[in-house]
Amino acid sequence: MFKKTLKTAVAALVLTAMLSSCGGGLPAYDYQIDMKPYENAVTAGGKIYLTLVNKENPCGTDYTPEDLASIPSELTLYGKEVQMESTAALAAEALVRELHARGYDDIRITSGYRSYEYQQILFNTYLGNEMSKHPDWSTEQCRAEVLTYSALPGESEHQTGLCLDLISTENVVLDESFADNPAYAWLTENAHHFGFILRYPKGKEGTTGYTYEPWHYRFVGTEAAARIYEKGLTLEEYLD
Ligand code: DAL
Ligand code: ZN
Repeated sequence: MFKKTLKTAVAALVLTAMLSSCGGGLPAYDYQIDMKPYENAVTAGGKIYLTLVNKENPCGTDYTPEDLASIPSELTLYGKEVQMESTAALAAEALVRELHARGYDDIRITSGYRSYEYQQILFNTYLGNEMSKHPDWSTEQCRAEVLTYSALPGESEHQTGLCLDLISTENVVLDESFADNPAYAWLTENAHHFGFILRYPKGKEGTTGYTYEPWHYRFVGTEAAARIYEKGLTLEEYLD
């Protein structure tokens, strides 16, 4: 059973009070898509989506979201199966459909929920890559390098099903070049209207524990996302 930290639980209580006093509803924004099917999801329907998973707050080996849903295959890279927590999945669908409606139709979701076991495979793959790249480094040095950009199994936000990685069909790599895609400028200014925040911003490595990831977005709901966006915070700073 996944235990929230006391800090997160207290923050959740305070925020519940704040959110319920805000009245809810969609933000004032010129949505290009019909938001009716997505309104409840992006606003988080009065629920709290502020679970913090990072190096200091692992979610453990056996945490799985209660309610996983599949992203429509036309919105995922090569139509592959991507699952997210059901509310976050609907919000993600709205976000990507809006991107497409605005002409950024090369954008797809390449990763959502990842199990502990899958994160373990990923981490070991990265470790192997670093060891091949740096034959003169010790395993410990290679491991430290991987930890700057990949979570250990049990420490990845992907295990919550509340985040996603975006990718372009024109440049199928997850690296900083995603920030050069015109969609990125739009996402930076507008992802919060769909309840998402850029989770690992540039210059915030000290608080998030990870290098800049222009492709990784975290669902928190529109109210919290707007506050985080307006104040330029990380999730860690917001919850602190
Ligand atoms: N790349 C992010 C930090 C993860 O592995 O969850
Ligand atoms: Zn990610």
